[in-house]
Formats: sequence, C-alpha cells, structure tokens
Amino acid sequence: MVTPLGIEPSQCFVAGAWVAPRAGETLDLINPSDGSTLCAIARGQAGDIDAAVEAAQSALNGDWGKATAAERGRVLARIGALVLENTDELARLEAMDVGKPLTQARADVLALARYMEFYAGAADKLHGQTIPYLDGYTVYTLREPHGVTGHIIPWNYPMQIIGRSVGAALAVGNACVLKPAEEACLTALAFAELARRAGLPAGALNVVPGLGAEAGAALSAHPGVNHMSFTGSVGVGKLIQASAAENIVPVTLELGGKSPQVVFDDADLEAALPFLVNAGIQNAGQTCSASSRILVQRGLYDQVIEAMAARYSQLRAGPALDDLEVGPLVSMRQKAIVESFLAKGADLLIAGQGRVNDGAPEGGAYVRPTLFADVPPDHTLAQDEIFGPVQVIMPFDDEDEAVAIANGTEFGLVASCWTRDGARQMRMAKRLRAGQVFLNNYGAGGGVELPFGGTGLSGHGREKGFEALYGFSVLKTVAALHG
Ligand code: NAI
Ligand code: MG
Repeated sequence: MVTPLGIEPSQCFVAGAWVAPRAGETLDLINPSDGSTLCAIARGQAGDIDAAVEAAQSALNGDWGKATAAERGRVLARIGALVLENTDELARLEAMDVGKPLTQARADVLALARYMEFYAGAADKLHGQTIPYLDGYTVYTLREPHGVTGHIIPWNYPMQIIGRSVGAALAVGNACVLKPAEEACLTALAFAELARRAGLPAGALNVVPGLGAEAGAALSAHPGVNHMSFTGSVGVGKLIQASAAENIVPVTLELGGKSPQVVFDDADLEAALPFLVNAGIQNAGQTCSASSRILVQRGLYDQVIEAMAARYSQLRAGPALDDLEVGPLVSMRQKAIVESFLAKGADLLIAGQGRVNDGAPEGGAYVRPTLFADVPPDHTLAQDEIFGPVQVIMPFDDEDEAVAIANGTEFGLVASCWTRDGARQMRMAKRLRAGQVFLNNYGAGGGVELPFGGTGLSGHGREKGFEALYGFSVLKTVAALHG
C-alpha cells in the first residue's frame, strides 16, 4: 500500500484536515508499469465538493483572507522548500502513479519547487496603477483575488500543473479547490500535506479526488466557485466552459495541441536533433505541448528522417522505476487510444520504431515509440492529438508552405523554428499560430517564468510566469472625487 508522506490516500483534504469522502466510496489507483493496484483513493462527490468550497470561502473570510501579500509569499516559499526536501519521495510517487520514468519525475518535482519559489517572490509584486482623470479626482486600480478558484487537472504532469495554477492562485490570495485526475493523484495529496506542514491556513487549499463526471462536474458547476482553471481534453474543456457560462465565471483552458517544429535547410541539424525527438517522446508523448509534427524543408528531409529513425531504433519503453527514456502510458485506456491511431497509420511509411523492453511486465500499458514519414498534412495522424510516443515528419518547399502546414490544424499551443537566418526567425515568430514560439530550441511548456497557453482548440488564458497573476486576479477601479 502506498502512503504518500504517511497519508492514508483514500481521504480528501478539506479545511486543513484529512477526511474520508462523505459517501465512503473509493477508487483503485493503478500502477501503469505493471497493472497492479497501488492503493485506494477517495471517490469524492458533490457533497465533498460542497464542503471544500465552503472551507475555501471560510478561509477567505478568515486567516487566509487577512494574510498580507508578503505572508502569502512566505508560506509559498516554505512549501517550495518542503517540496525540495521530499524530492525522492515525490518523484517515486509520481513515477509509480503516472508511469513517468524516474528522471522525468524528478524534473517535475524541481519544477513544482520552482513554481513555489517564483510565486513566493511574485506575491508582493502584483500591484495596480494610478490613472490621470478629471480635475479633483484620484483614480487607482486594485488587483484582488477572484475568491474561490477551482482547479481540475489531468494526470500527465500533476506536479507541474499544480505548481503553475494553484501556485499562482494562492500568490494572489485566492482559496483553491483542486480536483486531481482519477488516474494519478498521489502527488496532489502529498502536496496538500506539505502545504499543511508549511503552515498554509486551513481551507486555502482543498483537494477532492474523484471521477471527472462526479467530483469534476460538481466543482465546475458549483455556484460558489469564482474562477475555473482546467487542463485536459478538448471535449471536457467545452463542458467546463459551458458550466462557467451558466455561472458567468472566467475560465482558463489548456487543452493540448499538435505542436510543430519547422526545420529549414539552413538549420543547425546537430543542435536540432535531440530536441526534435525528445519533444515528442518526453513523458511517452503525453504532453500537452509535445512536438508531434516535424516539418522539414526538402534539402534536409532525407537526412532528418535518417537521423530521427536512428534515435527511434534505440528507444526502449519500460517500467517507470527502471528509468528508461520511455515509460508506459498512464493507463490501458490511453494505450488503446494510441493504438487506434497507430492502426489509422497502417497505410503510412514507418520511418523508425523503438521497442518495448525485454522483461517489461505484461500488464503494463506499453506502446512502441513510432515515427511516421511522408504524412499528408490533412491525415488524422497530422491533425489530431495522439498523446503517445508518436511523431510524424512532413516535407515542405518554402516558408509560405511551412507556415500553411504549421498553422493548418485547429490547435495552436507551441511551435518552433530552426534556421540560422535571423530575419526569417523574426518572421516565423510572428507568423506561427501558437501561444509560445521557440527559435532554435524547443521547450515542452517552457520554463516556470514563461507565460503559457493556447489559441484555437488549444484553449485560452495564460498560466505560468508573472502573466498568470493577472488571470488569477480581478481588477477593481477606485475613483475618488475630493475636489
Ligand atoms: P480528461 O479531459 O477527461 O481529464 C482531465 C481532467 O478532467 C481529469 O481530472 C478528469 O477527471 C476531469 N474531467 C473529466 N470529465 C469531466 C467532467 N465532465 N467535468 C469536469 N471534469 C472532468 O482527459 P482524459 O480522458 O484523461 O484524456 C483524453 C485525452 O485528452 C488524451 O488522450 C489527450 O489527448 C487529452 N488530454 C490533454 C491534456 C493536456 O495536457 N492538455 C491532459 C490530459 C488529456
Ligand atoms: Mg476523460
């Protein structure tokens, strides 16, 4: 039985205490590396969400609402320090829960700590403005918290997404209700325990695990929630936005993508190659900002295929704790989704393929990393989010065609451009339709400091960086007539 930081994991964290879900029901948490059951988690439902929202409202009326910006920053800094102290335990939990190779899980712990450090430092630097107005007036703006913020997060990067959304929301002074994914919620529970130990006032953070259609739907429809932050699928994103419309509350939606890397003939290929492959297979391709499309100008096309195929032939998928480059997918359900895409590519050229490692357990959710070449831009493999270790390569002739293909999906999250031509770098940065553009590099999601979010089906709103503080706050204008 897994006990994150000594916590019995079948509980919810509400009003600063660990409590059993009201209906007393649990769900099994599965280890995707071998199919075994890790532990039971709470199957939170509407009653638990009601209690969590009420606890958040009480926190806003109590200690948390009265905390100064500096005090909020200080408690976030303490949480960050505790995260770092528990790096090994958090990484092990995430590896077992998500199937994430240990090295990648450790990177997520460090990112979570960095988010806490960043938002700790930012908390007392968010301020309003004074505005020149009519004679006899003084006008200024205040940046205030929304109040209760709801956070529904997926299973692919629990720690990073908690860091960027809960971290920023707390820095502004909101009180949070977090619904982690049913596939992976151990580090969300561990995070709540670390926040408690760091002295975060009761109710400032509440965590209710459970199913999307139950706890998730109850949270997004709750009239006591003043802002919703969601990361996950396009389909559920639409439901979240519809619920938010009912309650007239703002939403931030981060819904994944089909992010391209565009390689021109004059690119530094040696520098590009590690990024081309890693951005596609990191976290077994289950990354919102994975680079799943590689566009290559004709002069380098064959060379890129050959080099990427050579890398693919070395890739091995195996148990998360074996720490190979690729782990299992998060679940057998996700494996079935990815395999159905692989089947749709049966008529395409497989340029390179990795293996499932010898001895990887039968019950694990493994798929072979697969690289397709000569993929028509309108093919489902080039249009739809696969969310597995699968990439497609496509040729192009000139800049206009590259832009047309790169922008030719309904998504727009991240894009990158590889070229030594400085003027082209600037043009491409403007022309690519994406929330983040990388020039001669690719960072899946970028750093903690970099505003992040999409356009089109990738969603709207920005998290990460200082920009997130604007989204998690609401502006009030004060106009005083004093003569
Ligand atoms: P999902 O969108 O169903 O799950 C994400 C979160 O939403 C989970 O916490 C889930 O419990 C919750 N949820 C589900 N239904 C809900 C509802 N009716 N109301 C409120 N909350 C609800 O994603 P899923 O099914 O796990 O993955 C399916 C596909 O979605 C993936 O193959 C991938 O393409 C995409 N996805 C994208 C992610 C991203 O980072 N942008 C993350 C996870 C999935
Ligand atoms: Mg789902």
